[in-house]
Amino acid sequence: MSLEDIIINSKEKANMPIFNNAAQVFNHTFFFECMKKNGGGEVPEEISKHFGGKENFIKTFKEAGMTQFGSGWAWLLQDKFGNLKIVKMPNAETPVMYGEKPLLTVDVWEHAYYLDYQNKRADFIDTFLNNLVNWEFVLKNLK
Ligand SMILES: [Fe+2]
Repeated sequence: MSLEDIIINSKEKANMPIFNNAAQVFNHTFFFECMKKNGGGEVPEEISKHFGGKENFIKTFKEAGMTQFGSGWAWLLQDKFGNLKIVKMPNAETPVMYGEKPLLTVDVWEHAYYLDYQNKRADFIDTFLNNLVNWEFVLKNLK
């Protein structure tokens, strides 16, 4: 099975150990692909126009990451109707299980930022957006 099929299949069968591991492999692999050295910078127009501008995109994405209570992920995704959305998901939840297409994610599990940022999740998300996002990867998936 593909990783995506394992995620969907294990979720349907409520096989949580398999689901959690498969989904977290997908989420982390995707997260790492969303980053590059000296990334970040201007949010591409193709993305920001769906959110009322660049500043509002940043604000909304950051808010999703900041308001995820406990462990989880903030996502930019394309839903089944092609609409761009920013959502937060707890634990190992992933857009893949809903048939949605992930475009960008940031890991907001504490392990992702605690060593460098302690409790300052906001600073970690700022660094991610300003210095790490690989927008070419995001746009490649959008097309
Ligand atoms: Fe993580």
